[in-house]
Amino acid sequence: MVNSKMVSIASDIKIRNVVNGLVRAGIDVRPRVHSLTNVRNKIRRSGVCLGRCYYDEFASIFNKAYFVKNYIKASVAIEQAVSCGLISKGDKYYDLGGGAGPASLAIWRSIGASNITLVEKSRGQYIIAKDIVTKISAPYLVVNGDVFQYKTQRDSVAVISYLFCEYMSGRSNKKDVIFNKAVAMIKDRAIVIDYRCNLEVLALYLGAAYDCDIFDKTIKLGDYGSSSYSEGVVNVSFLLIKRK
Ligand SMILES: C[S@@+](CC[C@H](N)C(=O)[O-])C[C@H]1O[C@@H](n2cnc3c(N)ncnc32)[C@H](O)[C@@H]1O
Repeated sequence: MVNSKMVSIASDIKIRNVVNGLVRAGIDVRPRVHSLTNVRNKIRRSGVCLGRCYYDEFASIFNKAYFVKNYIKASVAIEQAVSCGLISKGDKYYDLGGGAGPASLAIWRSIGASNITLVEKSRGQYIIAKDIVTKISAPYLVVNGDVFQYKTQRDSVAVISYLFCEYMSGRSNKKDVIFNKAVAMIKDRAIVIDYRCNLEVLALYLGAAYDCDIFDKTIKLGDYGSSSYSEGVVNVSFLLIKRK
């Protein structure tokens, strides 16, 4: 397992283009400081997602807070996977627990791949994802379904952005279940973006059958990005997985 600490720069032009394209299409994903606070408070009040899916209710506010941030993170992970030779434009991609689609958008925009299926359980997120695809003429397919029931193709690439954290929180008793399901979802290769502690556990579990490399990156934002995210940087950890 490799742990690479790296710094990369997120292009302001790239971020602005994505945000403006979505906003022009009537999809307001502009991040605001107050929406980050709101979403955290509402999530705290509503409890974890396992029993009742708060994404149905809070999909819009979640995306204002996280869509662009998760788009930036996914772009960096995808670019790293290309430079490692793990993935290429012609591959079949699944964006599992894809939400409104920041990772699908990143796969398409970063490397021009178009064979992408986004699978999302919550009706609220699914509707926003469909809306985005229609309004910006994106090439990917959006499916309303449960990733644990969904059959992915052999030789495909699973992109899994902040799905495991839903099930691996301290309060969740579903960790063993999720590991078995993860193996079923990850056919050949995968890019998992999540909190580092979750990636470490997942890599340990998958290590016998898969090569697993964890990367940590600090992404420096330009003026436009910094004005949206006052921190000026976005930190991301991701795991690149390939069957041995
Ligand atoms: C933290 S959000 C991340 C969304 C998106 N991937 C991103 O990076 O912004 C987790 C998403 O996983 C979805 N989800 C949770 N369990 C799921 C399941 N079993 N099948 C499909 N989607 C699921 C939730 O509805 C939610 O949209």
